[in-house]
Amino acid sequence: MKVPEGISMKRVKAPAALIGVLWVFLLAIGKNVCLAEPLGVNWGDISRQPLPPGIVVKMLRDNNITRVKLFDADYETLKALVGTNIEVMVAAPNDMLKKLATSERAARDWVSANVTRYMFRGGVNIKYVAVGNEPFLIAYNGSYQNVTYPALVNIQKALEDAGHAGQVFATVPFNADVLCGPSVDCSVPSGGVFRPDIADLMVSITSALNRTGAPFSLNIYPFLSLALSPDFPIDYAFFGDFTLTDSATNAIYSNVFDASFDTLVSALTKAGFPDMHIIIGEIGWPTDGNKFANIQYAEKFNNQVMTHLASKKGTPLRPNREFDVYLFGLLDENLKSVDPGAFERHWGVFYYDGNPKYALDLSGQGSADVWPKPAVGVDYLEPRWCIVNPSAIVDADVLTKNVDYACQRTDCSALQEGGSCNALDTYIKASYAFNNYYQFNYQDKYACDFEGLATITSSDPSPGVRQCRFQIGLSYQPVTASSVRIQAESSAIVVLVLFVSSLLL
Ligand SMILES: *[C@@H]1O[C@H](CO)[C@@H](O)[C@H](O)[C@H]1NC(C)=O
Ligand SMILES: *[C@@H]1O[C@H](CO)[C@@H](O)[C@H](O)[C@H]1NC(C)=O
Ligand SMILES: *[C@@H]1O[C@H](CO)[C@@H](O)[C@H](O)[C@H]1NC(C)=O
Ligand SMILES: *[C@@H]1O[C@H](CO)[C@@H](O)[C@H](O)[C@H]1NC(C)=O
Ligand SMILES: *[C@@H]1O[C@H](CO)[C@@H](O)[C@H](O)[C@H]1NC(C)=O
Repeated sequence: MKVPEGISMKRVKAPAALIGVLWVFLLAIGKNVCLAEPLGVNWGDISRQPLPPGIVVKMLRDNNITRVKLFDADYETLKALVGTNIEVMVAAPNDMLKKLATSERAARDWVSANVTRYMFRGGVNIKYVAVGNEPFLIAYNGSYQNVTYPALVNIQKALEDAGHAGQVFATVPFNADVLCGPSVDCSVPSGGVFRPDIADLMVSITSALNRTGAPFSLNIYPFLSLALSPDFPIDYAFFGDFTLTDSATNAIYSNVFDASFDTLVSALTKAGFPDMHIIIGEIGWPTDGNKFANIQYAEKFNNQVMTHLASKKGTPLRPNREFDVYLFGLLDENLKSVDPGAFERHWGVFYYDGNPKYALDLSGQGSADVWPKPAVGVDYLEPRWCIVNPSAIVDADVLTKNVDYACQRTDCSALQEGGSCNALDTYIKASYAFNNYYQFNYQDKYACDFEGLATITSSDPSPGVRQCRFQIGLSYQPVTASSVRIQAESSAIVVLVLFVSSLLL
């Protein structure tokens, strides 16, 4: 770092004590500017042709990403992480919770196969085990309510018995819907409490986490607040242009992220855990499949998140602290469930093929026009696309039937309302669906027929460069047991009514 002339001039004449002060000052600046924040990302792979773990790990390293959160404990993935020093969160999916809750033996086997196995010198730097994923989501109707806590306790015990205490921590990634709830007045962050139906359970879980020194993990999604409630003030989803004053503390909030965080701090404080370490398990913004999901908003939001982290300002209730954050997500996932909305397949900072979508300075230093480094060595299929044959005589009903057929078997989320291909004409949309089906089937020529309506072309039919991209598939085979994973990562179906209804009063 270059020291400005004025300062070095002063240092020459300054008394020793002052020089000391100046040094501390400069060191402090040095710390803020020169050290990159440890950044985490969520790495899910519910895709038809997922990038091989080796390519993804190289991409993580090229981008100085030092933490990953996984949704399972896939062997190939962990093998690729051996020797990298990337800090890893492995996960036991929700559908394993019952077994882990009822059998200490199952928990021991899980830890042995998915943690201990990789903990050799120079192995995988496993730091956390996620026990379930958002198990108390309202949409799950309480299905995991009785099993999450005992599963956590059994995994903790298994980790301790295997000698990982103080090194590997079990936690439970929660959705923000563990807070407040429809019958609770959470109009300001200081009013935060746990959702009444699970409040006692949340205290037991937090106590178990606190006992081992594990963090509390919460997912926060300003996008969903906006997408799911038409009255939500858009500026509040971003950082800066909106303010809410907490009437009880006089703290001023300029974004729903800080407000959500402090709502949790308040809930934890009331439950007796004022100093509980908190990590943000997921935060991000999707780029397609909803009218608020686009590149511009995602770029703005994620850059603001990175700047907010780097500023170390913390929140009004936890000032001057760093956040531990995992961006959601690394790559688009074209087989994710779209029950919550078509946007679910478009959370990636990178497209399905590891190409970055927008400028984002992952070091958090806020540099403009810095793009994430793309994946290297990706194996694409041929530059060929499947489209509606321009010379075919098209019967509208037959076309519709064939588009439906393709869409049920591939990813048509960009065609949905608010999606990047939604406003285009019927033929382009049909071509988009046909092409995805063709690419999903590794460009098998029989996958581009559609009762004679389709034909293969070698000129890119995409109507725009960044809008409605017609994809070329990748040559990778689907990961086995992907059905298990689809359940494992079944996603954020949240209605964050809490911050919404209240805030508009
Ligand atoms: C990653 O970190 C290294 C060393 O600190 C630095 O030289 C490099 O520019 C960083 N790369 C990115 C993409 O930030
Ligand atoms: C290891 O973890 C994966 C993902 O949770 C799970 O499917 C598998 O059964 C685990 N292995 C054992 C022995 O429990
Ligand atoms: C929860 O209940 C709703 C309505 O009864 C139902 O549609 C849904 O499938 C249930 N979900 C689960 C995960 O059981
Ligand atoms: C959880 O336990 C309660 C009380 O024992 C019971 O009423 C409820 O049905 C159980 N829920 C599930 C999903 O098993
Ligand atoms: C949380 O853990 C800390 C450190 O072990 C301990 O001092 C504190 O009493 C615990 N808090 C509760 C409420 O159990």
